[in-house]
Amino acid sequence: MDKLSDSLIGKIQGKTGIIITEALQPAIHEFINRRMKELNLSAESYSTRLEDDDTEMELLVNASTVNETYFFRDEAHYEFLQNNFFPSRSMSTVHIWCGACSTGEEPLSIHALAKQMGIETEITATDINTEVLAFFKKGIYSKKSFRADGQKYHRYIRCISTETDGTIKINPEEIRKFHISFLNLNRETPLPFVMDSFDLIILRNVFIYFSSDLIMKILGQLWSVLKVDGILLLTTNEIAAVPENAYFEKKRDGDIYYLQKKKHIRERSIASKEDKEDMHSTDLRKIFTEKKSIEKDFLSELKFNSSKAEMTSYKDILKYIDRENYRKAEDLLSKIDFSSSNLEYMYLFTGIIKYQVEDYHEAEINFYKSSSLNQKFWPASIMLAFTYKHIGKLQKALVSFEQSLNILMEYVKNEKSCYNFTIDFDPVYIINICKKNMDEIRRIIGE
Ligand SMILES: C[S@@+](CC[C@H](N)C(=O)[O-])C[C@H]1O[C@@H](n2cnc3c(N)ncnc32)[C@H](O)[C@@H]1O
Repeated sequence: MDKLSDSLIGKIQGKTGIIITEALQPAIHEFINRRMKELNLSAESYSTRLEDDDTEMELLVNASTVNETYFFRDEAHYEFLQNNFFPSRSMSTVHIWCGACSTGEEPLSIHALAKQMGIETEITATDINTEVLAFFKKGIYSKKSFRADGQKYHRYIRCISTETDGTIKINPEEIRKFHISFLNLNRETPLPFVMDSFDLIILRNVFIYFSSDLIMKILGQLWSVLKVDGILLLTTNEIAAVPENAYFEKKRDGDIYYLQKKKHIRERSIASKEDKEDMHSTDLRKIFTEKKSIEKDFLSELKFNSSKAEMTSYKDILKYIDRENYRKAEDLLSKIDFSSSNLEYMYLFTGIIKYQVEDYHEAEINFYKSSSLNQKFWPASIMLAFTYKHIGKLQKALVSFEQSLNILMEYVKNEKSCYNFTIDFDPVYIINICKKNMDEIRRIIGE
């Protein structure tokens, strides 16, 4: 069953993103052999069954993950949280996502520490393995979950649990404080969280199983859901393996390394204007309630790089949008298998549909994600600008128009340096749209 075994390994990798090394294979083979016997299936039939039966696939995924974890693992990280991170956020509830939480020792350690410090947390704990999540929900641990590493913090766990004959039961009301759910980090769809949700994302000992392409893709998604001053905690080795990127900056605090969310130009220049903008936004919104046709004209002129296989579908989506058939556009959109390299298109189209049905909040989120994933993707940044303008966030609109203009200027100066995205007409036309809008906004906000 060697060829088949390769294809089964391929299936697991495709689903989870985990690179199944030789070290991981024996346990997986053992599980598969046992399962084939239990079901009385040949290797081929088992493989076919995996295609049609989500529960069978779930069992295989559960058998393929490494779930090693323990309380206060990597003690120095908890010292960092205690001495640096929590004191800097003590004013309000700290929102945390533990993205590969395994059996729960990691989120419980964070919660127990914060509780001792009098800090309120809201912790979302997710994993791809449904068995470990069920274990976490029960909250019953043995001595195996306590090692020498982290020892100085163990007493904090005692404060949220009871111990009988060596079995540690976390108080159920403590477990109920967590949002525990299944989440696959290897995904084509956006993360199920709104933008700027978390102060801290902790994702330790899971990137070691992923390819660098997948890591980069995940980093882009994490960037969107982290707050502006949010941080991402990986293990030191995992951080060392992360290449320079547009989303995060490596920071050091003593022996601890962490990743700080990079502020994009938009956010930096907005802050000081925020108050002024809020004051005028209601009046200004009125000025822009009238629906403008320019955006639509502009949308129907978009043309995609013709070498892409998806081009026909993209054009069809735009065609449906142009005819105001948003349901069809959405249907088609849901059928396209967006890969990590063109995820920005998915967000762009979703944003355009939301924009057209006047769901500007969702439009903003999607354009924002699209332009964050690819900062040279001017269609997303110009649509983000139009969205901001419609909802009266004029300062933000100004920055986004300016960003679009800069990208397009680059296009005019040197075609090769611009994102591989073509337009039917002179880019100067769109540059002029940006300039016109910028002038208009500057006049209104008195800049
Ligand atoms: C070694 S444990 C790490 C647990 C904990 N973070 C720690 O450092 O102690 C790795 C966890 O990553 C989870 N995992 C692996 N692939 C995943 C994926 N694609 N999405 C979400 N979780 C995944 C596994 O199920 C496992 O529970």
